[in-house]
Amino acid sequence: MNEFINKTYSVVTYGCQMNVHESEKVRGILHTLGMHEIDDEHQADVVVFNTCCIREGAEDRAYNNIMALAKEKKQKDKIIVVCGCMPQQKNGKYDLSKSKAVDIVIGTHNINNLAEYLIKFKQTNKKIYDILDAPIKDMDVASAIRDDKINAYVNIIYGCDKFCTYCIVPYVRGREKSRAPSAIYNEVLDLVQNQGYKYITLLGQNVNSYGKDLEEKINFATLLENLCTIEGDFKIKFMTSHPMDFSQDIIKVMKKEDKIAKYLHLPVQSGSSKILKRMNRHYDRRQYLKSIRRVKHAIPQISLSTDIIVGFPGETQNDFNKTLSLLKKVKYDQVFAFMYSKRANTPAAMMEDQIDEKEKSKRLNKLLRMQKIIQLEQQKKYINKHYNCLIKQKNGVAVGITDGGKEIYIPNYKFINQNYFANVKIDGIRNHKLSGVIDEK
Ligand code: 5AD
Ligand code: SF4
Repeated sequence: MNEFINKTYSVVTYGCQMNVHESEKVRGILHTLGMHEIDDEHQADVVVFNTCCIREGAEDRAYNNIMALAKEKKQKDKIIVVCGCMPQQKNGKYDLSKSKAVDIVIGTHNINNLAEYLIKFKQTNKKIYDILDAPIKDMDVASAIRDDKINAYVNIIYGCDKFCTYCIVPYVRGREKSRAPSAIYNEVLDLVQNQGYKYITLLGQNVNSYGKDLEEKINFATLLENLCTIEGDFKIKFMTSHPMDFSQDIIKVMKKEDKIAKYLHLPVQSGSSKILKRMNRHYDRRQYLKSIRRVKHAIPQISLSTDIIVGFPGETQNDFNKTLSLLKKVKYDQVFAFMYSKRANTPAAMMEDQIDEKEKSKRLNKLLRMQKIIQLEQQKKYINKHYNCLIKQKNGVAVGITDGGKEIYIPNYKFINQNYFANVKIDGIRNHKLSGVIDEK
């Protein structure tokens, strides 16, 4: 018996897919205490804020929301927990070590101890502040409770060893640590064969480094091949790939295996080799474009997306124009673009030639406007092409979802079944929406 049985909780998540998945693990842990989830954090007995610090805006948002909720704490006898990347930073913008607003503060390495921390807090009513430098327990202890019933996130590697000069991740997530291949295989097997998942998204800051730290001889390409031996109607996605380690073997496996989604997120960050060097990315514009050419040649229907940082220190108009010209060349289906944000204690924060915020925002808007036009123009290229899609029902209409997440409306489809894969031929565009028909077998 514990005091949390039948109490309610709510989890508020900021940041990337890694955090979304970690919140699923937090839910798993709170369920083991006999608690149940409610959507409204104002009503919940325990509120967990799973935070992000990749950019200043993410931190500000989390901090302001934590403080706003803390005001309600006294009258409602709420427990507020903060975990994730924000408290893990050293000398970050917000110091929660002394703040009375929060009851339990942990970092990225000790989420698995959350149940113990909660019980201890109930017994002592004393604030707990525990930030570790490395994990003490295997990250696999918690089993996730997933919200999404179609796509399941699965961790394959934690941490990052790359140290791009702008990035806080290696400092808050620690060194690369691959999960055991058998643990990954068993998790995917269960998700596909017992729980009916259609997409498995393998997660890591840098999935291509998978296996480098393991004794077993395995790399990312062989891991993918092993997972494709699992029987079932499902597909595998993965993110994020680092262009430096994105090898020919991976392209080969992607091409060969029908179970691997024809979608690739390959963050370029900048189109200027000078800036890439300052970012410590270990590739230049030419090498990046070579990888893109190779993957497009091997898999013509590939859907591509990328991340861009505008206004990195020292980025001139000329450098920025190179990023624009790279976008025109590659023609991504989706671009996630961000203004450079100074992160404490990272090398780029100490660089001279910081770019003015107004200028960054001008560049970001220009880039997004241009990319929108590219995407609209791109739509025409889909006409008369066939894409393998997940067939779903949306507002009473059938839609096919491509591997890249594009929706194709299938107006004349009589619904018998949904959530299965089929080939769809795109035959038109109406109001910027694609329409198509399912290929007859
Ligand atoms: N400022 C702006 N964007 C950043 N990213 C990482 N660090 C920063 C930063 N300091 C972006 C990169 C990365 C994505 C997840 O976030 O583009 O690929
Ligand atoms: Fe950050 Fe670079 Fe690692 Fe990505 S590869 S998490 S951008 S340090």
